[in-house]
Amino acid sequence: MTLSDAVSTRISLRSYLPDPISPQQVCQLDKAIAQYNRQAGLHIQLICNRPDPFSSLTKSYGMLTGVRNYLVFAGPESDPDLAEKCGYYGELIILTATAMGLGTCWVGGTYDRRSCLCHLSEGEKLVCVAAIGHTPEERSGREKLIRRIAQRSSKSVAELASGLSHAPSWFMSGITAVQRAPSARNLQPYRFVKKRDNSVQVHLTETNSFSSVDLGIAKLHFELGAHGGVWSWGDGGTFHKAAEEKSCGAVIWRGTPAQHQYLLARHNGGHWSFPKGHVESGETEIQTAAREIWEETGLQTEIDTKFRQVVTYYPKPGVIKDVIFFIASPTGGSEHAQEAEIADLGWFSFEEARPLVTFATDEEVLLAAEAYLTQQE
Ligand SMILES: Cc1cc2nc3c(=O)[nH]c(=O)nc-3n(C[C@H](O)[C@H](O)[C@H](O)COP(=O)(O)O)c2cc1C
Repeated sequence: MTLSDAVSTRISLRSYLPDPISPQQVCQLDKAIAQYNRQAGLHIQLICNRPDPFSSLTKSYGMLTGVRNYLVFAGPESDPDLAEKCGYYGELIILTATAMGLGTCWVGGTYDRRSCLCHLSEGEKLVCVAAIGHTPEERSGREKLIRRIAQRSSKSVAELASGLSHAPSWFMSGITAVQRAPSARNLQPYRFVKKRDNSVQVHLTETNSFSSVDLGIAKLHFELGAHGGVWSWGDGGTFHKAAEEKSCGAVIWRGTPAQHQYLLARHNGGHWSFPKGHVESGETEIQTAAREIWEETGLQTEIDTKFRQVVTYYPKPGVIKDVIFFIASPTGGSEHAQEAEIADLGWFSFEEARPLVTFATDEEVLLAAEAYLTQQE
């Protein structure tokens, strides 16, 4: 599931099961959190098996039950955009957790703030938290009732946006994703304006304790719906649509579905990933994948297109890239790393490969490949 898919499926969930988040899932979330903290200078943390902020007997902590794990959204109090960054990067983590099958709920007020302060360093400010964990497959009657009480429907496109005549399709997709953005008390206190030069500006329509968090969440949703672009921070911030690029590659495996290894490539930038590269003009996705595998690893492969995973990221400011991964197994050639791009190649078991792949998005692809092969046992 991509983050854009997670936009469509995420809802706030308020009843949690006692089952712990698995160590592998914790590791995967921590990888994403570390990446975003580095990028944004935040101090977001995943706290597991600590129900204290939600378990006070003396106070009624809203409608959340069984919360044992939570995300702390915090960062330097000197950062004027702290709350908005927590919204933007926090929602990236929430959507990552949704894609992993975990339930989440942003929490601004209904928790014991004091018992979270121990996670902060000097000069840091706590913005808010989010509950995270396993939730029942079937929503309970209570959960349904809470949704009826707490929820009102999202704002309409006309309430959320202006400049709609002659708006490009990416703008409309962006607004549709904003309709699905969570916000404190479901206020969605913002309005997006498409400008004549096709840039987009967003303004807060009211300010309250969490409107900047809501703004950061909405900016992220717009960006995902519009398929990439760059926002400037702040009320009145501007969005410029990114140029789109596409690469194709494959998760290469050998052995049997029951016992197998994966081929990982250490790229010259230092990160471990799968072989992949740019689509050249006139090529199909499969032709690109086969050519790139051949160039980067020296292997001929049989590509299975029933497995197709898409990873999206920004290789540089103003450019968004979709990488299509198939699954493939070697049929010939002789293995050697392409010097210009690949520093090292290696075969690894799933258990060895999982912590080695550098990016959380690639780890998702590896997990999907492992599930795909295991199903064929
Ligand atoms: C910053 C923020 C704070 C929130 N605080 C709470 C809260 O304290 N308690 C709660 O039950 N829900 C809280 N929510 C969840 C909203 O009520 C929910 O996102 C909104 O009603 C939309 O529903 P959805 O998330 O299911 O789409 C919060 C959401 C945000 C973004």
